[in-house]
Amino acid sequence: MRLLRMGKPSSSAAWITKHKPRWPLMLLALFTLSTLTVFLVRSASDPCHSTAAATNRFEEAKLGTKPQIHSTTTTNTPNPLDFMKSKLVLLVSHELSLSGGPLLLMELAFLLRGVGAEVVWITNQKPPEPDAVIYSLEHKMLDRGVQVLPARGQEAVDTALKADLVVLNTAVAGKWLDGVLKENVKKVLPKVLWWIHEMRGHYFKLDYVKHLPFVAGAMIDSHTTAEYWKNRTRDRLGYASPFCKSCSFDRIKMPETHVVHLGNSKDLMEVAENSVAKRVLREHVRESLGVREDDLLFAIINSVSRGKGQDLFLRSFYESLQLIQGKKLQVPSVHAVVVGSDMSAQTKFETELRNFVLEKKIQDRVHFVNKTLTVAPYLAAIDVLVQNSQARGECFGRITIEAMAFQLPVLGTAAGGTMEIVVNGTTGLLHPVGKEGVTPLANNIVKLATHVERRLTMGKKGYERVKESFLEHHMSHRIALVLREVLRKGKS
Ligand SMILES: *[C@@H]1O[C@H](CO)[C@@H](O)[C@H](O)[C@H]1NC(C)=O
Ligand SMILES: *[C@@H]1O[C@H](CO)[C@@H](O)[C@H](O)[C@H]1NC(C)=O
Ligand SMILES: *[C@@H]1O[C@H](CO)[C@@H](O)[C@H](O)[C@H]1NC(C)=O
Repeated sequence: MRLLRMGKPSSSAAWITKHKPRWPLMLLALFTLSTLTVFLVRSASDPCHSTAAATNRFEEAKLGTKPQIHSTTTTNTPNPLDFMKSKLVLLVSHELSLSGGPLLLMELAFLLRGVGAEVVWITNQKPPEPDAVIYSLEHKMLDRGVQVLPARGQEAVDTALKADLVVLNTAVAGKWLDGVLKENVKKVLPKVLWWIHEMRGHYFKLDYVKHLPFVAGAMIDSHTTAEYWKNRTRDRLGYASPFCKSCSFDRIKMPETHVVHLGNSKDLMEVAENSVAKRVLREHVRESLGVREDDLLFAIINSVSRGKGQDLFLRSFYESLQLIQGKKLQVPSVHAVVVGSDMSAQTKFETELRNFVLEKKIQDRVHFVNKTLTVAPYLAAIDVLVQNSQARGECFGRITIEAMAFQLPVLGTAAGGTMEIVVNGTTGLLHPVGKEGVTPLANNIVKLATHVERRLTMGKKGYERVKESFLEHHMSHRIALVLREVLRKGKS
């Protein structure tokens, strides 16, 4: 087994220094790459939190405070969220960490601040002892003019009553309603927008979601996730209304539900569209992995856990090596990169992966990279992204659109949000989840390894798709439609 060691910034970093770079982002990326190995994510096994990718947005959020050149074409067009100017918005997060949900809500906070909304943030669950991540994220928000309030107390209640809009983030945040607002819940519900990013069974608790039918709307990251919530609430939750003792329902009905696909941040697009930055990052990462420029890298970038399917990916990868060897195909040497390792969190599964690699004697073809705070360098360095999330798949899977921004084709499971992003046969290839998917994925790996032209074309098509549908301004536009609707309802 070979554990990646990120050494000191090497020749490529020296190259940058010599050439007086204008890319702080890139330097930071390199810096992060070589120094930070901590990754503080708790929901590693959640199929709906793309954690490795999510932390990337944290980096970008930090960078967003610095002056920078925006290469996107939206600077002159009016911001779709302009109507939120001077509105009071209360954001309630179930927790504050570097995982997908809270970081998305922070992005929304910054988008709203960007148009002059008054934004107040509440974190419902905090550990009793001081926490470095929470401290840092709260200060990030304070720097950007977001007010941070304690979850409990009169000020929280007053703000909720006064707010034009209250956004609850994730199902778990529902606990805050009864816990804090108490008899005021009913007054606040008509202006609540519930943003949901998960589809795991344990979220379907009455305690969390009993007020769901009475809020102004739900906003969900993909059609599949929305449908899943509709199914689950209909099928599973026995229910009696807290406001109407005489009536009893045998189900929870979803409120009006809006599907809002996410978008790539401007900062990510900036790196993705900077060919010099990409080249430098590519050389740097490839050197640190010990692979050559013309080697082909298939990478899976997710917190390592069974739900994300790294085990099945390695099996497919091994099969693809055998196919290439058996058919004596002339291809560059192919490598698998697993970004998102955390031996301490997933010891059993990680050990299983490494044993597989040893047993099949593919140590020189498989590279494990610890969880990292930034994924852009890896996206610059690889040739194909593998999205192998199992079971119901990703709720959305932000790493998928990030990879497409880097003109990478995606080999993804035919499940969840991936199916709404990847156009099968055009921007990537889909394979079934589970063991049935192992051989199809192996075949797809071989296909993309042997057909250079096809691989590059798929990457370009993916990039075009991102430019058409998955940019920050697209997301802002989609969110704006929902917020308008919720404001309208809240007033009536
Ligand atoms: C990766 O993490 C493990 C512990 O989980 C640590 O022992 C190892 O040094 C880390 N590797 C790098 C390159 O930081
Ligand atoms: C929802 O239920 C329908 C049938 O009632 C089923 O066909 C569909 O696959 C389910 N969708 C999800 C996402 O669970
Ligand atoms: C994807 O396309 C391939 C052919 O290009 C087809 O064999 C496969 O069934 C498709 N998968 C899905 C999920 O549509």
